[in-house]
Formats: sequence, structure tokens, C-alpha cells
Amino acid sequence: MKVGIVGLGTMGTTHAASYQRIADCELVAVADIQLERCKTVAERYGVRSYASLGEMLASETLDVVDVCLPTHLHREHVEMAAAAGKHVFCEKPLARNRQEGEAMVEACRKAGVTLGIGHVVRFFPEYRRAKEIIESGQLGKVGTVYTYRGGGGFPMAWQDWYANYQWSGGLTLDMIIHDFDFLRWTLGEVKRVYAKSTFGRAYNRLEHVLVSLRFESGAIANVEGSWLDIGGFGTKFEFACEKGLLTYNSKDATSFRSYQQRTGLESVQGVAVPESVVDKDPYTQELEHFVGCLKRGEEPLISGDGALGAVDIAMAALESIKTGNPVTLSSERG
Ligand SMILES: NC(=O)c1ccc[n+]([C@@H]2O[C@H](COP(=O)([O-])OP(=O)(O)OC[C@H]3O[C@@H](n4cnc5c(N)ncnc54)[C@H](O)[C@@H]3O)[C@@H](O)[C@H]2O)c1
Repeated sequence: MKVGIVGLGTMGTTHAASYQRIADCELVAVADIQLERCKTVAERYGVRSYASLGEMLASETLDVVDVCLPTHLHREHVEMAAAAGKHVFCEKPLARNRQEGEAMVEACRKAGVTLGIGHVVRFFPEYRRAKEIIESGQLGKVGTVYTYRGGGGFPMAWQDWYANYQWSGGLTLDMIIHDFDFLRWTLGEVKRVYAKSTFGRAYNRLEHVLVSLRFESGAIANVEGSWLDIGGFGTKFEFACEKGLLTYNSKDATSFRSYQQRTGLESVQGVAVPESVVDKDPYTQELEHFVGCLKRGEEPLISGDGALGAVDIAMAALESIKTGNPVTLSSERG
């Protein structure tokens, strides 16, 4: 499998490193409009560099295009790769809204190529284990759930795109969509969404969000996310069930911590990415899984259709934040 990556920021460079550890799969080219950055990564891995996906597609014979661009650029590039007959791995969130996401899924379906989405939390062992325990029924019915994701200060990236709501969808679409996807995977469909956030305040870098989800199963989840917490990136969950409690806090594993407040554009490099103690990190595992599915002709664990479900929850939360009203999902989906 020959792979080309477009977008070499935090995620593109993470994926480039991951491909080096996947057997029967070769990173052959990278593309980024920041040419210096692109050349540095290309030299590190001995691959060719291009200024755009168009140039890369014109000169390379690829099996897979990996799209690691800011969210508002996903649709254009996924559609371009699909039209060229390439399988596509695209970072989460799938798209800026359902309409864009559906168009991407349809473009890949029409072209007969496979689309996989980077909801990497499904590859974090603690989260996988929690799903297994919940599904085994040993703790009984799930009553309430709490999840948290945040820290590291406000992410700084290309053209400060995380601060551009039209491009990133803010914290709700960009970050806690990981928890929406994980919870939907574990607990099933969401019926109703109610959310509050600091979004809309003049200084949008201090965004903090709390989203309540009511599942069709009757379970309720409170999903909290924050750009404000500067105490290092961390995630938590707690499932309160009929017969017991399941809890996780990523920071429990580290007894020594040092945090530095990040201020100003110049002092910050990229977005905080969760770490994992496992030997093969979850980013490598998700890409290995995707490449393996292509070889075996199987549907990947997180298809475009699956990722649309998480986009729906995020869009409902954004609507609730705007209107102050709960949003019912199931009837809209039919
Ligand atoms: N799965 C995760 O844990 C995780 C973590 C962080 C980000 N993400 C997602 O990954 C995606 C990328 O985020 P990031 O933090 O790496 O962004 P980034 O800003 O660090 O990198 C984006 C790169 O794209 C390049 N670029 C912009 N327009 C281009 C174009 N037209 N052609 C070629 N290159 C172009 C920029 O020069 C930049 O190098 C986003 O969708 C984000 O939501 C996922």
C-alpha cells in the first residue's frame, strides 16, 4: 500500500511517524502548502514532497490518501482523492456539518473507494476496555456517564484555524466529538442533546462546554470539554451503572507533572494530543487497522457513515448552545 499524506501539521506528522511502524505499507509522498515544513518531513522519511494534493496525485501512484488538513478543507480534498480512485483516511471530525459529510461519503461510495475516519479514541485501550465491560453486562444497566477532555491551553495551528469557528466548529465539533463518537459506539443512539458553553464571548480561546446527552437506552451522559484548563492535556470518564462504577483519569498514571501557561501565537506549537502508554500508540493502531481493512476488503471500524453520527451530535450541541433549547435527534434521522 503506497500512502501520501496531505497536511503536515500536528496530525500529518503524527501519521507520517506511524506509517513507519506499519508493515506492508509505505509512506511515499507528503504535501503541504508550507513548503519548508513539507521538505523537512519529506527528508526525515526519504519521501517526495509536493505543494498540494493535486500535484501529489499528478506525480505519484498512490493507493491511499491520508487527509490531515484543517476541518473546513476535508471535503474538497477527500472528494479530490476519491475522484482519483484513491482510498481515503481522513482525520476527525469528518466534516464541518452533515451536508458536507454526506457529500464526502457519497463521493467515496460513487468512486468505489473506502473512507475511514480518525476517531482514534476507539483505539485507546482504556476506552476499548470500558466498552467491553459495559457490553458484557457485568455492571448492569448504565445510568449516568461523565466524560472530560481538555487541557494544554488553546491550540495554535496554521492560520490560527482552531480560533475560526467557521473552519473548526470550536471545541464542540473539534474536540469533544471524540467523546460523542465513543459514547455512541458504546451506548447506542442519542435521542436528545442539551448544551451550554462560553462560546460567543469575545475572547473565544477560553471556551468551555458542557453537553448533556440522553440516549435511547435511557442513559444520560454529561460531556465536558475545555480549552481553558492549562493543566496539561487529560481525559476522564465515569460510568455509573446498576451494579458498579467504572472510572478512568488519564492523569492518574503520572505522579510528576509540570505545566507551563502558553501565551501568544509565537510560543505555541500545534494542538495537544493525548498520550498513551501502550507500545504501539493508538494513532498507529488506527492506521494499521485501516490499511489492514483495505487489504482484506473489509469495512473499517469507523466508516464515513459511522462518523456522520458523531457530527450529528456535535451539530445538535452547537444548535442547543445557540438557541438555549434541547435538540431532539432521533426524529430528524428518521
Ligand atoms: N485525532 C486527533 O487526536 C486529532 C488531534 C488534533 C487534530 N486533529 C484533526 O486533524 C486535522 C488537522 O489538524 P492539525 O492540528 O494537524 O492542523 P495543523 O494546522 O497543525 O496542520 C494543518 C496543515 O495543513 C496545511 N495546509 C493548509 N491548507 C493546505 C492545502 N490546501 N494543501 C496542503 N496543505 C495545506 C498547513 O500548512 C498545515 O501544515 C483537523 O481536522 C483536526 O481536527 C485530530
